[in-house]
Amino acid sequence: MSEESAAEVVVYENGPLVLRGDVAIVGQDGAPVDARRRTVALCRCGRSAVKPFCDGSHKVVHFRAPGQGLR
Ligand code: FES
Repeated sequence: MSEESAAEVVVYENGPLVLRGDVAIVGQDGAPVDARRRTVALCRCGRSAVKPFCDGSHKVVHFRAPGQGLR
């Protein structure tokens, strides 16, 4: 990260979105989701048993997605 207070989201190839920094995660109803740490991995394969967090299931289901934006 370029600034200590900035947050960033890293898109991992075939894996989760990793958030680093101070980011508030809230549910659809606006209720806070307790991330418990400053770096969290959010599931984008849809198979995690602990959504919205990644539990590694993307490897089991051979999730495939690019590690950067669509071209
Ligand atoms: S991206 Fe890891 S379990 Fe979905």
